[in-house]
Amino acid sequence: MRKFFWGVATSSFQIEGNIENDFTKWELEGKFNRNGLNPVYDNGANHWLMWEQDFELLKLLEVNAYRFSIEWARIQPEPKTFSEKAIDQYERMIDTLLENSIEPFLTLHHFTHPVWFHDKSPWHSDESIEVFLEFVNKILNRFRDRIKYWISFNEPLVWTMAAYGEGNFPPGYKDLNIMMIALANILEAHSKVYDLIKSSISNSTIGIANNFIVFKKERDWFLLDRAVRNKIHKFYNLMIPDAFITNKLIASIPPLLKFEKEIKLDNKIDFWGINYYYRLFTKFKLSLTNPFYFYTKHPETDTGWEIYPKGLYKIIKKLSKYGKPLIITENGIAINNEEIRKKFLKKHLKYLFKAINKGIDVRGYFYWSLLDNYEWLFGKSKRFGLVFVDYEKDFNRIPKESFYFYKNLIETYNKKFNEQILTES
Ligand code: FCB
Repeated sequence: MRKFFWGVATSSFQIEGNIENDFTKWELEGKFNRNGLNPVYDNGANHWLMWEQDFELLKLLEVNAYRFSIEWARIQPEPKTFSEKAIDQYERMIDTLLENSIEPFLTLHHFTHPVWFHDKSPWHSDESIEVFLEFVNKILNRFRDRIKYWISFNEPLVWTMAAYGEGNFPPGYKDLNIMMIALANILEAHSKVYDLIKSSISNSTIGIANNFIVFKKERDWFLLDRAVRNKIHKFYNLMIPDAFITNKLIASIPPLLKFEKEIKLDNKIDFWGINYYYRLFTKFKLSLTNPFYFYTKHPETDTGWEIYPKGLYKIIKKLSKYGKPLIITENGIAINNEEIRKKFLKKHLKYLFKAINKGIDVRGYFYWSLLDNYEWLFGKSKRFGLVFVDYEKDFNRIPKESFYFYKNLIETYNKKFNEQILTES
């Protein structure tokens, strides 16, 4: 029986600190100052300096996998300058994981960029792909003998919507057509990254981590609610996986957006990463310009999201139709109540194993996140971690109840796996 990956996920910028990138530039310029929210980065969770201590926590948790990303701005502070020193530290980190039998899952792009990238070769420009590949090449050259599991992009649609649709992330455009051009380039970059990694590591496994939302129509009897729901679901959840099958990126949300572009993806993906958090309700709105509503009906977490564990099962079932193995690359909750976080974990895992028992090929689960961290537009007030970070007191780490609860769940499920093997043989 194949081993199941039990892990936790992080991203470089959200935890590391000591970084200058497009997000810190925006913060300095006061550009995140909107809707009353003013996230302050202030060295994230200081992981760049405290990683050894954090990896002790991974060992204590007894996970066998760890998903993290490499900070592009740190590796390539200027277009033609690479920092070997930074790569050396990542190398020490990766080696430490391997020495402890923790499989590294490396994300190459998780929302952030060197500042120069948006000026010189932003994602909506043709140069972006080659420029990104230079960075990937550098990483690949150093780590090809150590990293088997690669995630090219984290939530490409979420990022392009924030950076090019809503203008909340750098570079801050508000243009759906340019957004789609950027997304098409990102997918093309994925395809090239895939070829590049495969040509250098034959037993590599390469995926994309997409965000998935369960969309539910408000009124079952109302055809227009159904139409709205289907349009949004197709755009948000299926457009990218579909493009891998059809070699066409197609978006159709009348009257807001119409886009079609051929991209030679040829189903070049070894697994679909699922980032799953919540459900939204959808409703038709009588409006010529924007006939949609979507909203949280039962806000329950500190980020105002609904807790809907069954949704994980629904998304897994949907994605299984694409015929690739699945990995839950993120699932988690921002809350200060540990009873709720424990229940969240237990219930989501129950639905995950329901899918596995039905024969769906899910190969791993990564809780978001190991540590409390910087949550993009919300800042540090939203705590997703299994480990509490005391921002007021030297970034002290204190494992929460859910840390030990997750550790026990892993042990219990592993026992079940082993028993299953015994009865099968
Ligand atoms: C996901 C992001 C991740 C984290 C979680 C809460 O959309 O990939 O970085 O912020 O949300």
